[in-house]
This record gives sequence, structure tokens and C-alpha cells, in this order.
Amino acid sequence: MWLVVAFIVLVQPVAQAQAKETTAKHQPVWCDESLSEEEKVEAILAQLTLEEKVALCTAQGKFSTPGVPRLGIPELWYSDGPHGVRAEINWNDWGYAKWRNDSVTAFPALTCLAASFDPDLAYLYGQCLGAEARYRKKDVILGPGVNIYRVPLNGRNFEYMGEDPYLASVMVQPYIKGIQENDVAACVKHYALNNQEIDRGHINVEVSDRALREIYLPAFKAAADAGAWSFMGAYNQYKNQHCCHNEYLNAILKEEWAWDGAFMTDWGGCHDTEQAVKNGLDLEMGTYTNGLTTESKFDYNQYYLADPFLHGLKSGKYNQAQLDDKVRRILRLMLRTNLKSPRAWGSLATEEHAQAAKKIAEGGMVLLKNDAQILPIVEAPKTIAVIGENAIRNLMQGGGSSELKPKEVITPLQGIKERFPQSQVLFARAYDSGKAMYSNEGKPTHNLDSLHAEAVRVAAKADLVVFVGGLNKNHKQDCEAADRYTYELPFNQPKLIEDIAAVNENLVVVLMSGNAVETSWASKAKAIVQAWYTGSQAGHALASLLAGDVNPSGKLPFSFPKKLSDNGAISFGQLSYPGDGVKQVYMEDILVGYRWHDTKNIPAAYPFGFGLSYTTFNISNARCDAKTYGENDNILLSVDVENTGSRDGAEVIQVYVSDPKCSVKRPYQELKAFQKVFLKAGEKQTITLSIPVNSFVFWDETSSSWNTEAGDYILRIGNSSRHHIANLRVKVK
Ligand code: BGC
Repeated sequence: MWLVVAFIVLVQPVAQAQAKETTAKHQPVWCDESLSEEEKVEAILAQLTLEEKVALCTAQGKFSTPGVPRLGIPELWYSDGPHGVRAEINWNDWGYAKWRNDSVTAFPALTCLAASFDPDLAYLYGQCLGAEARYRKKDVILGPGVNIYRVPLNGRNFEYMGEDPYLASVMVQPYIKGIQENDVAACVKHYALNNQEIDRGHINVEVSDRALREIYLPAFKAAADAGAWSFMGAYNQYKNQHCCHNEYLNAILKEEWAWDGAFMTDWGGCHDTEQAVKNGLDLEMGTYTNGLTTESKFDYNQYYLADPFLHGLKSGKYNQAQLDDKVRRILRLMLRTNLKSPRAWGSLATEEHAQAAKKIAEGGMVLLKNDAQILPIVEAPKTIAVIGENAIRNLMQGGGSSELKPKEVITPLQGIKERFPQSQVLFARAYDSGKAMYSNEGKPTHNLDSLHAEAVRVAAKADLVVFVGGLNKNHKQDCEAADRYTYELPFNQPKLIEDIAAVNENLVVVLMSGNAVETSWASKAKAIVQAWYTGSQAGHALASLLAGDVNPSGKLPFSFPKKLSDNGAISFGQLSYPGDGVKQVYMEDILVGYRWHDTKNIPAAYPFGFGLSYTTFNISNARCDAKTYGENDNILLSVDVENTGSRDGAEVIQVYVSDPKCSVKRPYQELKAFQKVFLKAGEKQTITLSIPVNSFVFWDETSSSWNTEAGDYILRIGNSSRHHIANLRVKVK
């Protein structure tokens, strides 16, 4: 009898609990395949307490947000982004955690990807990056960045996809798809109008609705349409509200575009509980805990969306629906990532990823000049002088949050040495920009005059000079939290180039940068390669391009103005860029980048869409399938492309549209279609581009809607924004 009682009292509850646990283990609601995603969201939501829901909305450390331990819902883990998975950061400060297992593949910067004009490479990029993030147990990768390149001084342009909204839109979609196929979320940043680093934390951007819609939002819209699972708000303000909780931008994203993902702050971008609650902020990251000053005073419970939100909910200031909308979005993010079952495993720093990084780098580098066909280097010269600090510098260090700890780094010097084993390769550093540092300018440790003199001496001894310079990832170069202070090449490089050219005319200049630079020295160089920041395989990719193993096929994703004041935004003075410290006005309006150069007839040194090849192409016979179209039609534009040279190569066919007669001002032309075509030497292909007529729209400020006006449009077909082989006139009814 006592045994039976003892069984009932002691053993049975344990057994029951175990049975319950087993069921829970085997069938948590998120694993129930009979339920749709929304049903799962609702089922989980119904189980959460008020406190558990609120807890989901704020960070618990630098790069994670809580799960629900009681229900077995795991935490979410985040990492920068966007060029590789960042090394592990300490729980509560910005220091590196110094793990042994966090070395990754560094992929080329997004400017390089954009320059490839190749959506297949964007997909490959996303797939590899997503796999690395997944292996590193990340749920969200903080990228891509799609802020439009407005001025060539912005310290973060290298993390973005250039000056054209259409190009950025086409390239961002496959990148997101590739990442998310690994069950890792892309986080599209920085929404929106974060087009400079100066005063980024507070500057209020004044921009016309038209420029907002036509220039600054399309790539974000494309990302939302591609189904990006999360977005990050920008630091700056728009209409006097911070973008991380901005009524207007939130309404566009979540209501107008009907986007169902989770919206998070940039780190420390939240400033107000009420706005955060009401204006669509779902996840608050990085507030207070900067690890240097205030962290001891403020803990995570004091975040705007933590205790202040909870108290507001309890007192009736905020309502359940506001909370539930946030939690639903976070749960969706979880169901797509850390609650997904089965889930991809990922892989890290593989040979396959290294090859992908190399391929992307090769596809994006742009040949700006090639006199007397000095490139490719067909016969190995007896002596090659590799000159310039960037030939040996680890350009994955510095730059801010996109900094990476690559497993392997092939420098240009190493790549050139390996590729030209028969040549004697000399090296001179030429200048010293100091240690790569975020938030501090590097201090040289060498004597600059002697470095300069040595570089000229070494150059004089060689048959060919490859000068590898450009910018770097130091503060006030291509680096977060500040902009460049000059347009000229830094570290006395123009003089170096001049002095080197005086002793050796066989000079190839390789620019590593994410920004345009002043190029009045260009006549001194026989060839110029815009080589971006290309990651782990930089040296191999560069060497293969110099040697002609690959044929350059990249095109500039932004214009290189001859002088800084030729840039639209800058031409209007301080209020336009960088603002007066409180606000700035985008005075060039819709005329950003080539739209400015072309409309105002200010030629760029190197225009948008430009890039040379080692072969030649004949583009001919451009024709449309009709002469008149309705506004919902697609124009089918065909063109013949022939590789008329002796090397295999790729050309990017570009279609720009002009609307010469319109009720509002329009840019001279806008990119509306492009296609990269790979052709063997001698091969000819007909390609057909499909151009939706409704992409000719402008944002009508009188009706606050898109408008396609009937009338004549001109389609300009060519291989850069300034080289057209045909102008076709079509009528829109
Ligand atoms: C940057 C973001 C980055 C975040 C986390 C911020 O300073 O603006 O782009 O994702 O830090 O590192």
C-alpha cells in the first residue's frame, strides 16, 4: 500500500513531467509541420508572459538578444557584416574576445561586388557569407549596406553598392537570397539617408520626397521585396526624428511595402521609448553599454525598450498590440533562423569560399586606363618593382564594424611574386600611414622622406613598376565614424607617382579604395586599375588580372569627379555637405552621381559604368520589339555583342533612359537595365534585355505617387554612361 502511495506521490509526477518534457522535446510548436509560419508565431505568442515578450525586444550583450529559456527558445546572435563574419566581440564591450575559432574568409567590399555588375556573383557572395555566418552560429548577419554613394568623402562608401539605385537594387537581391538560403538573416542597413559619417549620430537630413523615393529608397525597397528578414535603422535623423524610430520611414517600410521582418537599431541608435514603441522599432541594440564610460551605470534593463517599455505597458501608456507586433516580427525572425529545423550547418574559411572571394574580386576590378597595352603582362619582365604600402598592408583591419580577421590574406606583393616566379620582384613601401586604427589616425613609424627616396630608387631599377596605393581603412580614410578630409590621394602619393614616372615610364597604378580619388596624376601612369578592397584573395586576384589570366570586366559603380567641387552635393557648399552640425539639405536633389555630371554637363574623370577590357567588343544592331508601349508593358531590347579581340572577356551592356520632355525636371539619363555578357574571342551573341515601362516613373510630389508620363523616351545603349552606340526612341501611350 505504502509502496503504491509512494509511487503515486513521488514517482508518478516525475514520470509525468518527463513525459511532458519528452513531448516538448520532440514536438515544440515551432517544429509542428502542420502549422504555417503565422500559426506558429501565434502559438508561441500565446505562451509568452508580458515580461518574456518585453525581454525579446532588447539586447542582452553586445551582439545577442535573449530567447525564452522557459520554453527552450534560443537566443539570437548577430554579427557584422557585410564583407565577412566579424571576429567575436566581448559580451559587454567592443574588445575582441580573442577566440581561436573565428577566422574567416574576407570577401571583397560591396563596392567591388557592385562594380562586377554581375548578379550571379552577388548570389555566390551571399551563399558563401551565409554559410560562414551559419558555421559561426550567427542568426543575423549585419549587412548588406545599400546607402547611396552621395559624396566621395563618405568614410563608409566602401560598404555600399555605389551611386545608382537601380544597380544597387539589382545587386542586393541575390546577395540577400544567398545569405538567407543558409537559414541566416540578412540585415539591410542603414535605413535610411545615412550618406556620410560626419555628425551621423544626430544630423537631420532634409531631402525632397522625390530624391528620397527615386534615389535613396529604391535599394531598400528591393531588399524588402527580396524578403530580407531584418533591417537596421540609421543613426541620423529625418524630419527631426532618429531613423531608428522614425514615423515616416517606418510607415513606408512596414505599411506601404508591407514588409513583415524585424527592425533593429544601429548600435546605440535608440533615443526615446515612446518613439521606439510607436514607430516600429522591434529590437534595440547597443544602447548605453559602450563599455568605456556609462556601462556601470546603465544595464540592459534600462534600455528604452526594456523596463521603461514594461512600466509603460503596465501603466496603460502603451498597449498590448504595440508589443505583440514587435514580438511577432521577432518570432518570425526566429522561425526563419534559430527555430528552423532542420537547419543548414554552414562551413567556414573553405577553399571554395576563397575561390569565390577571388572570383568576385576578379569580376569587380576596373581597368581605368591601359595605354600602349602595357597590361596584361604577357612576358614576365626581368624585374618588377612593387611599390606602395597597400602592397603589404592588411586592408581587412580598420574600417570600423566591417573589420575582419581573415584566416588567410594574400597581399598584392605575395600574389605578384607567386604569379611571376621568373621575375625578380623588388619592393619599396614608399609611405607609411601607421597602424590600422578605427577612431585614430595612424602614426608613421618610418621616416617618410627616406621611404619616398627609396621608392624612386627601386622604381628606377625595374623594367615595370606596379604602384599599389590608394586609401586604406584608417580613421578619416575608408573608415566608419568619420569622412575623408581630402579628395586627393593621401600620404603624398600624387608626388610619389610623379617622381616614379620620371624615372620609369612603365608605370601601372593600382588603387585600393572604396571611394573615388582625385586623378590629375593619371597622365603619368600607363595603366590604372581600380582594385577596391578585395579581401583574403586580394593578391591572387590582382596578379591574375595583371597577368591576363582574367580579363578585366568591372565597371565603375560611381563617378570619379575631376575635382571635388564637380560632385553635385559638394558643389552646394556646407549646408549640403556635411551640414551645419544640426542639419543638412540635399540640395542636388535627384541629381546624384552621374545624374549630376550628365545633366549639368560636367564631365567626370572616369564616368559611372566605365571600365576597359583587354579585348574589344563591337556592340551593334540595337532594336526594340515595338515603337509604342503601354505603361505596363515590357520593352524587349535586343543588341548584338561581338568579342572582336583575341582574348575571352565580358562586356556590360547598359541601357540608360532619358525623358526629354516631362512636366518635372528629369536627369539627363538613368540606368534602367544592364547585362554582363561573357564571350569567347571571336564569339558573337544577341542578348535581349527586358525593360519595364513602369520603371520610367518619377515621384510626383503633387500627388505623392509614382507617375509615368506618356510621351517619347530615349533608350541609350552602350558600355558606359558616356559611351552609347545607339539611341532608340520609343513612345509610351
Ligand atoms: C555600425 C553598424 C554595425 C554596428 C554593429 C555600428 O557602429 O554603424 O553598421 O552593424 O555598429 O557593429
